[in-house]
Amino acid sequence: MSNENPTGKVARDAAQGTEQARKVLVTGGGGYIGSHTVLSLYAAGYQPILVDNWSNSNPVVLDRLETLSGMRPMHYKLDLRDAAGLNEVFTNNEIDSVIHFAGLKAVGESQHMPLEYYDNNVVGTLNLLSAMRGGACSKIVFSSSATVYGDPESVPITEQASLRATNPYGRTKLMIEEILRDLSASDPQWEIAILRYFNPVGAHASGSLGEDPNGEPNNLVPYIAQVAVGKLKQLSVFGDDYNTADGTGVRDYIHVLDLAQAHLSALEVLVPEHGCKAYNIGTGRGYSVLEVIKAFELASGQTIPFEIKPRRTGDIATCYADVAYSKKALNWQAKFDLQTMMADHWRWQKQNPKGYSE
Ligand code: NAD
Ligand code: UD1
Repeated sequence: MSNENPTGKVARDAAQGTEQARKVLVTGGGGYIGSHTVLSLYAAGYQPILVDNWSNSNPVVLDRLETLSGMRPMHYKLDLRDAAGLNEVFTNNEIDSVIHFAGLKAVGESQHMPLEYYDNNVVGTLNLLSAMRGGACSKIVFSSSATVYGDPESVPITEQASLRATNPYGRTKLMIEEILRDLSASDPQWEIAILRYFNPVGAHASGSLGEDPNGEPNNLVPYIAQVAVGKLKQLSVFGDDYNTADGTGVRDYIHVLDLAQAHLSALEVLVPEHGCKAYNIGTGRGYSVLEVIKAFELASGQTIPFEIKPRRTGDIATCYADVAYSKKALNWQAKFDLQTMMADHWRWQKQNPKGYSE
């Protein structure tokens, strides 16, 4: 474990009063969604403390966060499976609450290396929860996914829809959800929010924070962005024979900044009597692959060459959220439209054609 927090920065933070701010431990805080949430936490007056093993992210993000927020994030280079290291973080800091992003997230990879996924995601979470108990911290917001709904019986999907994961990655999310529900049932002191994200896209409006996938992207928008910037030749559209308006898959894309804000709302509503609750985090509206391509072309002024290919194994036709419950219970609602998501994603890609590794 290492902790870089230069003395000068600590003094400046203290001078700005952040020593009194609520400390929020952000696991996976160096990653795509985590880094945007760290920025939103600063803006709302919290003191984020990052824990990341940098397995799928780049410490350059710390410089970007410092430039954008004026604060050098306090951070630990630490794997969640390092139980002793994690306990030390809780001993050395008065952590008020945890936002738990850290995890591996590639569906295809999880099918090839299930043990690594169960170890990283499930064992990592068990360690985290044990360390929280030891450190007397009982508030947690967990990054789940719409993948826990599998192939839904109907859309829009409510939080009451049946849960059934179809791959090891999804099963780690479902297992962690079950662990959290059991924990809440065992001890009413726990305050738990499970956020089921739909399809996060977009980037910070400055263009200096964004998604930086390792290798060839699996997800639609990062793939399109890399085609637009000339890194990849053409997009494969996986199937045009679905039962949707234009035959291509329909998803609920949500701006990463709206997603970040949902975590703040979730932190605010955490109270013991709520126990463990799950919330859909989407816009409530679906767009097809062809609609997304068109919106990206408009935002970027680039033509996206594509070819229709067979369906991708495991894909579903349509997935979008019923957001009525999260709107009401979290007092939160997505603000950004598809065009803004694409414009922001493009700005990030254009300014950082090689991601953070330039
Ligand atoms: P990301 O890979 O950019 O961020 C995850 C971060 O966790 C990375 O910085 C990685 O280095 C770190 N990490 C992974 N395992 C770790 C471990 N054992 N110890 C310490 N750090 C570790 O991913 P993201 O897109 O920001 O996703 C964040 C969370 O949201 C993940 O749990 C993911 O499953 C979930 N989620 C993401 C999406 C999406 O499309 N991006 C959709 C639904 C749910
Ligand atoms: C994928 C994951 C899901 C995860 C979600 C997070 C799979 C099978 N599922 O879902 O578990 O929670 O990301 O965002 O990986 N598409 C193309 N060409 C591409 C890439 C995608 O046509 O190169 C299509 C897909 O068929 C789909 C849509 O674009 O219709 C969105 O795909 P993607 O971004 O991968 O998200 P999901 O399939 O929703």
